[in-house]
Formats: sequence, C-alpha cells, structure tokens
Amino acid sequence: MLIFLVFCITISGIYSYDSTFITCDRESYVSFGVEIEPFYSQKWNETLPAPVYAQSQKCCWRVYIPIDFYVLFIMEANIGVDSTLKITDINNKTEIVMTSDQQPYVFVGSWFTIDLTVGPTIDATSFGFKVEWNPYPKPNPAYYNVTKASDALTFDEMLFENSVTITAETQVSLLAFPSDIPDLTPLLRLTLVFDGPTINSSYIGTLFQALRCNKPMISSSNQMTIFTFQEDYIIGSYFLVQDYYNVRKLSEMKGITCWSQSSCPVTLTAANGPVAVMTLNSDDGDEFIKRLDLSSDAVLKIYIGSRREGNDSNLIASYDLQQSKTNIPQKFNGDVMTYYLEKGTALVELAEDSNFTRWNDAASGREGFITSRQLGTLCDTQDVYETIGGLSNTVSETDQMFEFTVNVTYVDVSNDAKLTITFGNDTEHKQYTISKESSPSSSVFTAISNNLTVLYFTNQTSSTGFYLEFKIDSAQSPGSYASTFMPFFVILLFLL
Ligand SMILES: *[C@@H]1O[C@H](CO)[C@@H](O)[C@H](O)[C@H]1NC(C)=O
Ligand SMILES: *[C@@H]1O[C@H](CO)[C@@H](O)[C@H](O)[C@H]1NC(C)=O
Ligand SMILES: *[C@@H]1O[C@H](CO)[C@@H](O)[C@H](O)[C@H]1NC(C)=O
Ligand SMILES: *[C@@H]1O[C@H](CO)[C@@H](O)[C@H](O)[C@H]1NC(C)=O
Ligand SMILES: *[C@@H]1O[C@H](CO)[C@@H](O)[C@H](O)[C@H]1NC(C)=O
Ligand SMILES: *[C@@H]1O[C@H](CO)[C@@H](O)[C@H](O)[C@H]1NC(C)=O
Ligand SMILES: *[C@@H]1O[C@H](CO)[C@@H](O)[C@H](O)[C@H]1NC(C)=O
Ligand SMILES: *[C@@H]1O[C@H](CO)[C@@H](O)[C@H](O)[C@H]1NC(C)=O
Ligand SMILES: *[C@@H]1O[C@H](CO)[C@@H](O)[C@H](O)[C@H]1NC(C)=O
Ligand SMILES: *[C@@H]1O[C@H](CO)[C@@H](O)[C@H](O)[C@H]1NC(C)=O
Repeated sequence: MLIFLVFCITISGIYSYDSTFITCDRESYVSFGVEIEPFYSQKWNETLPAPVYAQSQKCCWRVYIPIDFYVLFIMEANIGVDSTLKITDINNKTEIVMTSDQQPYVFVGSWFTIDLTVGPTIDATSFGFKVEWNPYPKPNPAYYNVTKASDALTFDEMLFENSVTITAETQVSLLAFPSDIPDLTPLLRLTLVFDGPTINSSYIGTLFQALRCNKPMISSSNQMTIFTFQEDYIIGSYFLVQDYYNVRKLSEMKGITCWSQSSCPVTLTAANGPVAVMTLNSDDGDEFIKRLDLSSDAVLKIYIGSRREGNDSNLIASYDLQQSKTNIPQKFNGDVMTYYLEKGTALVELAEDSNFTRWNDAASGREGFITSRQLGTLCDTQDVYETIGGLSNTVSETDQMFEFTVNVTYVDVSNDAKLTITFGNDTEHKQYTISKESSPSSSVFTAISNNLTVLYFTNQTSSTGFYLEFKIDSAQSPGSYASTFMPFFVILLFLL
C-alpha cells in the first residue's frame, strides 16, 4: 500500500469566519491507495469557481512525490494584492503566482510546496488546486551531439520524441525561447531539463524557469536530457543547445521570439561583461532591425546562427555608432540569429514584418546589404526578390530620384542561379544580369533612378547564394545642378 501525504498547517486567525470562506485545517493527512486518485483542495474541482479564502491566515501544503512518479498540478487562483502564493520545487526555485487559470505545472523529485499567505482584505483571494500523480511516461529518446565547432541545434517542437539527450564536447548549454503564441509560453513548464543522460539524472528546472533566468541552463557534466510531459498539449518546446565553450564568457544571454505584428525592443547591457541575445525565426526566416541605438563605445555584432568562440565566419554585420545611423533599417535572413555585444549598451528594435520598418524606402545617405536566404549554405532555397525605392509620385510628374550604387561582393552562378539588378524609372530601366552565361566586367553598378530591384533566381537548383552592398545618395535634379553651379558661373564670368 502506497501512502502519500499532503500536510497542511494553518495559523488560525482570531476571527470567526463565515463558513463560505475557506480556512486551512491545522493538520490534515490525505492518503492514497494503490489506485492513486487525484487530490483536490477544499471545495474545488475543475468545473467549480475557486473558493474564497478567509483573510489573515497562512496555509501551506507539502506534496510528496514517490520515486518514478511525477505530479501534474493545476490551480485556479486569483490572489489579492495583499496576499502571496508561492510554489517551490525540489531545487528551492520559487514562482510567485498572481493568477492562474488551470495552466499545468509538472513536478518531479520527492516533493514540492504550496505556500499561501492571505492578507487582511476580505474576499480578495480565491484559490483551488488539484494534484495528480502519474507514473513517468515511457521515454522515446533521441540523441544529438554538439561540439565547440558546431552550430547550435534548435528544437521548435518535440512531437516525435519526448526525450532528447545532448552530448557536448565540454558541457551542454541550453537556451529557452518564449512560444510564438504568448499564451502558450506557460506550457514551457511541461518540459523539464535533467543534468545527465536520462530522466533519472538530477532535475535542473523547467524550460519556463530557463526562460526567466537570463542565462543559459548548463549541465555539470557533458550530457543533458530534455524531457517533455506535453502529451496532452500541443505546444512547441522552443529551445536551443550548444557547447558551453561558446557561451562561457557571457554575463547574460536571452532567447527572444519576436512574434508580434509590431516591433520588439531588445536591450543589451554589457556592463558586467559580454552579453548575447538569440532569436528564432522558424516561420519565414526574416528579421529586420528597425532601429538601433548604441552607446559610443558599443559595437554590435550580428551572426547568422550561433556565435562560436574564435570563429567569425558566420558574422553577417557589425555596427558602431556611426554605422547605426546610416545602415539601419536592415533585413536579415536567418532561422537563428545572434546579437552579441562586448561593451556598452545597445537598444535594438526588431521587427518581423517589413511593414513596420522602412526597409523598402530609399533615403539619401542610407547603406545596407542584401543576401540570399541561406548565404554560404549549399541549398536550393536561396531565391530572393527585394526592391528599395523612392516614392512614385502619381500626382506630379516627377518621381523621387536617387543615385544607387550596388557592389556585388559574392555571387554563386552555378547551375541555373542568376542575379538580376534593375534600376527603374517611369519610362526606362537599366538591367544587369550575372549568370553562368553573362558576367558584367565590373561588380559595381551605379545609376540614377527611382528604385532598385534585386532578384536572385535559382530555378530550384543548388547554390550558395549571394551578398551585395548598396548605397543610396541624393540625385541632383537638373534644376538643383543649375543652382549649385550658378555661383561658379558668376565667379567664372567675373574672372573673364
Ligand atoms: C465538482 O464538484 C461538484 C460539487 O461537489 C460536483 O457536482 C461535480 O460533479 C464535480 N465535478 C467533477 C468533474 O468532479
Ligand atoms: C532548500 O532550502 C532548505 C531550507 O531553506 C535547505 O535546507 C535545502 O538544502 C535547500 N535545498 C536546495 C536544493 O538548495
Ligand atoms: C555522438 O558522438 C559519439 C562519440 O563521438 C558517437 O559515438 C555518436 O554516434 C554520435 N551521435 C550522433 C547522433 O551523432
Ligand atoms: C530510472 O530508474 C528506475 C528505477 O528507479 C528504472 O526503473 C528506470 O528504468 C530508469 N529510467 C531510465 C530512463 O533510466
Ligand atoms: C569556422 O566555421 C566554419 C563553418 O563551420 C568552418 O568551415 C571553418 O573551418 C571554421 N574556421 C575556423 C578557424 O575554425
Ligand atoms: C504589409 O502591407 C501591405 C500593404 O499594405 C499588405 O498587403 C501586406 O499584407 C502587409 N504585410 C503583412 C505581413 O501584414
Ligand atoms: C566593393 O566591395 C569590395 C569588397 O568589399 C571593396 O574592396 C570595394 O572597394 C567595393 N567597391 C566599391 C566601389 O565600393
Ligand atoms: C520602379 O519605379 C517605376 C517608376 O517609378 C515603377 O514603374 C516601377 O513599378 C518600380 N518598380 C518597383 C519594383 O517598384
Ligand atoms: C532615370 O531618369 C533620370 C532622369 O530622368 C535619368 O537621368 C536616369 O538615367 C534614368 N535612370 C534609368 C535607370 O533609366
Ligand atoms: C528551370 O528548370 C526547368 C527544368 O529543369 C527548365 O525546363 C527551365 O527551362 C528552367 N528555367 C529557367 C528560367 O532556367
């Protein structure tokens, strides 16, 4: 016969309560037989509203978990401002709960505690919970390796396996990301991290805790196991693993999912040493910097994929204060991106949608680059179409004109791959094509036009892509030429 105890203590108030308010029992024991039934707190189950707790009391429950079992815990809670609800796991990691609407929690180890302190306000705190003991699900494991030299591995779903064991060259570093549907982020509590090769290794914490600590979760040995109890919930477990060697110098590291239809401000402060932020763009791989504010000592480095110590081969851009003024907005193509700052501070405003940036608008003095989808990787998904232009004026006759300069520094034209650069006007356009058949003598192209269009088309054949830089200057209209030359003519005439 298995006996598990739920133990309650109360410090009874001096008032006599209305019987509709819950007062905690001084001591109560709840035991379970071989068929383990869920435990419900007083006067509550999933179909009932949470009962109100009597004012000025302290309730605490300690829930025991037998070996090879885990607890699925849910609560319905609305905690008054003068009250506190604190949930503590086996590692003494606590979570303060203000409200809960039956989002699931998972606990492993031998116990967890629930501490409720109700303040003097009457009728302010309602609370009900359920504890359900279940045997561990059967692991359906998958195994992966990371090394100092390898890129990070990302996991955005764990649908085919419920257990992932990572082996690193040094130690394993795990970074968690919020769900791209914010309401689902609490479900990261269903995915647990263990410090070794199986779920019997010691428990480090949940992905939800990993998300909140602004540091990666690190294994003490070279192995880590991530196990998800999400069976009944359809969510992604968003996380990334890499060798600890590549993050060990960071004082802070954070995973960000910029899901919104507007923009996502991200602050990096390297006051205590280098910091990094990583983003996942598993939907379309597009990410924009809409705005960048740097302190004068800051240099923001941006990598496609993860940053590896001593290897900058995937560094795509780097900005100092001056460049942050001319080279933003900028579009990036990368499923995973790393923003790395060694000194100073950076405020990076990210966006997922070009509508919230001015990426497609020409402006005098602006610089930037355009790349294929997966620059440097041999694959058949490199195609891009980009256009940057001035306003087309339908009211008056004259469109906004700029001097565009394009410098193609890398282009793969193997197979069917073809890069077409077009400078467009109302009436005429200039077009340059770089392909196997035709390569212009120079890789620098300049024209005065209303817009610039870049098309890289591979016809679904493999290529490693292209990289080009562009610069936009003001185009002097004939009228303004005249005015700038006028004083010169006057002087010339005077001299004659
Ligand atoms: C919840 O409790 C109410 C009142 O005790 C009861 O009528 C109802 O059947 C219970 N619901 C479930 C799902 O147990
Ligand atoms: C948790 O805290 C208790 C008392 O504060 C302490 O005795 C125990 O060692 C701590 N456990 C861990 C894992 O830190
Ligand atoms: C991981 O590395 C070990 C030892 O080098 C090797 O035996 C194993 O096959 C590798 N596993 C995977 C999934 O690459
Ligand atoms: C964990 O340990 C239990 C014994 O306590 C054993 O039955 C189980 O198979 C182990 N699980 C794994 C994944 O090693
Ligand atoms: C840097 O990484 C790239 C890509 O993984 C690799 O080809 C290159 O050899 C590495 N360079 C050094 C110096 O390790
Ligand atoms: C951006 O704006 C254009 C034009 O207003 C619209 O057609 C397009 O759907 C918008 N894109 C997104 C992702 O909202
Ligand atoms: C084009 O880019 C190459 C490589 O970065 C550079 O050496 C060259 O000066 C650039 N040309 C112009 C006109 O900007
Ligand atoms: C470029 O500008 C011309 C004239 O302003 C316009 O007709 C054309 O559609 C524009 N091209 C793109 C790709 O916007
Ligand atoms: C666009 O029009 C301007 C002014 O009419 C002209 O100088 C320029 O050469 C044209 N550019 C292209 C690409 O046709
Ligand atoms: C694309 O590939 C198909 C099939 O190989 C070929 O028939 C077609 O001509 C190609 N198109 C272009 C534009 O290269």
